Amino acid sequence: MQVYLVGGAVRDELLGCPVRERDWVVVGATPAELEGAGYRAVGREFPVFLHPQTQEEYALARLERKVAPGYRGFVTEFSPTVTLEEDLRRRDLTINAMARSADGQLVDPYGGRADLAARLLRHVSPAFSEDPVRILRVARFAARFADLGFSVAPETLELMRTMVRAGEADALVSERVWRELELALATDRPERAFEVLDECGALAVLLPELATHPGLATALAALHRSTAVVTTDGQPDTPARWAALLAALPAAAIEALCVRLRVPSEHRDLALLAARLGAHIGHASHLPEPVATDAERLLALLEMADAWRRPERFGCWLEVWRARAAAESLPHAAIEDFTTRVAAAVRATAAVRLTAAQLQALHGPDIAALLRQRRLEALRILRQP
Ligand code: CTP
Repeated sequence: MQVYLVGGAVRDELLGCPVRERDWVVVGATPAELEGAGYRAVGREFPVFLHPQTQEEYALARLERKVAPGYRGFVTEFSPTVTLEEDLRRRDLTINAMARSADGQLVDPYGGRADLAARLLRHVSPAFSEDPVRILRVARFAARFADLGFSVAPETLELMRTMVRAGEADALVSERVWRELELALATDRPERAFEVLDECGALAVLLPELATHPGLATALAALHRSTAVVTTDGQPDTPARWAALLAALPAAAIEALCVRLRVPSEHRDLALLAARLGAHIGHASHLPEPVATDAERLLALLEMADAWRRPERFGCWLEVWRARAAAESLPHAAIEDFTTRVAAAVRATAAVRLTAAQLQALHGPDIAALLRQRRLEALRILRQP
């Protein structure tokens, strides 16, 4: 039997990018031989094994044939006679269809190396269209490798359009869609993924609320700006990115879209908050000056955001707002000014406390009313020069 390193690891190594995961293909072996050598079978639909020591995935070389619509409608043929070239041919992109042998030789029957050099995401064969998840994968790779100068080959984009027209994108299940979208959101250029989906028509099928929105271009620009937002441990903040993308949509549309795609609640809630607060302050299309200087509206903003109990989420929303404001070409000074005022407003109102005597003398609704009154006073003082 021969063992080859395949797929993403070969691609990333040639690109000089860190290799995250290594997948192997085994040619000329049977499942019994691998199990005899201590590999553990894990594949349900096709023969995949875990290496006894490294736990890396080893798959028997296989052929796939589509027999029914949808991403599960495959029959898989594997036998010791399936060649490496046949296995590579059923793969999505030429840059993902290369292998490296144990002695270090590159096996590249479909021009993957040339396409890496030409910065092209190109499908290997018409079999690309047998798996609609690949539409999402191409969008994700376009985002991931955008900064390296990659683009989708025109003929691949055309094939993706044909697939969408044939209804292939309708067959995608929500889990797969969200998984790929979240991976795309975590890249350095997430907006490229949504542009590619729009160019091939899949955005209109998968996220029609966004695809038909007149503010799509601004939404993509806001998504681009939001990549500056990271979590406390330096990871891409995908809820903030998702919220920046969707904030201009009506709340009902965000709700519908997130339910349909089974989007995690953290992403959904931040997007809804951004939409509601954005509507309250008039989005970013004009200066939010009146909000910052109008104590009542400023207080309402903090109340809607539950800013005192959820300070982290509020801070995250402010970042989302900044991304959207920048995307709407609001002057930098105005963005900074609004952010500073809102942060000061949170601090001033959070410091408001009622005395023990006041708390004792008053009942529930009166306590809330007095607290609100005091917070308003704190905000009125704040805005005086
Ligand atoms: N593959 C494919 N079609 C799919 C999924 C995967 O052809 N729908 C093939 C590609 O050859 C791919 C390999 O299986 O390189 C491994 O897939 P996966 O681990 O999902 O992706 P990688 O290309 O390794 O990329 P990543 O770095 O994101 O893991």
